[in-house]
Amino acid sequence: MTSFKIKKIIRQKGKIPITCLTAYSKSTAEIIDKYCDIILVGDSLGMSLYGMKSTREVTFDTMLMHGKTVKKFSKKSIVVFDMPYKTYFNKFIAYKNAKKILKLTKCDAVKLEGGKKISKTVEYLTKKGIPVMGHVGLLPQFVKKFKYKGKNNFQRKKILNDAMILYRSGAFAVVVECVVESLAKEITKNIPIPTIGIGASKYCDGQVLVIDDMIGLNSFSPKFVRKYSNVKDVIKKAVQKYCADVKKRKFPSTRNVYKF
Ligand code: KIV
Repeated sequence: MTSFKIKKIIRQKGKIPITCLTAYSKSTAEIIDKYCDIILVGDSLGMSLYGMKSTREVTFDTMLMHGKTVKKFSKKSIVVFDMPYKTYFNKFIAYKNAKKILKLTKCDAVKLEGGKKISKTVEYLTKKGIPVMGHVGLLPQFVKKFKYKGKNNFQRKKILNDAMILYRSGAFAVVVECVVESLAKEITKNIPIPTIGIGASKYCDGQVLVIDDMIGLNSFSPKFVRKYSNVKDVIKKAVQKYCADVKKRKFPSTRNVYKF
């Protein structure tokens, strides 16, 4: 069933840029919910939050915990749950897991990586009323090295075809990750659903970034990330000051103690 919120996102295509960021926690969800159209509970949390080597290590149960929390503290945005590696390897498993995700977390939609290979699964889920966001281009769950895509005609045709198939299978939007600008432009022009780019140029209908990257909490700094803050530095300074205050017995002060 396509909700009112999802229909609104589809209508924004080519008109109003769609804003999306990842969130994994209560505090982040509360902050970004006011501003973002979509919140993605991305499996990038494996690397950002847990220091894993790849998103493949992220478990279903871990994602469920974060999905539940993020949705609980988001009022306005569409919350999309990133289905972890190996949880959608056939349409029946995918449906069983997606149903569980939506029931337990109350998230609005799920995201799956892949194109033609997962088209039957996407079709099955959407026909059963589960909103699906696709993901083409660079697929973090399926590559060892992160390299941008669309450098040759073979790749370009394949990725464009993947995006088209996802649309035909019922996806309501598609994340386009790390592809050359001209390909992002071509996909956006040719599919009737919104493209949400990450490292895929301004020609997408919307943009997504991993929040820890854009606020400077991660050291990870690829070309496509713009750092809007340096939260690592803010935390470092606060911790330095706290430790110095404790050592000098400046904290706690009279304002921080209970008196009888
Ligand atoms: O897991 C994630 O955060 C993602 C985004 C990079 C699109 O899939």
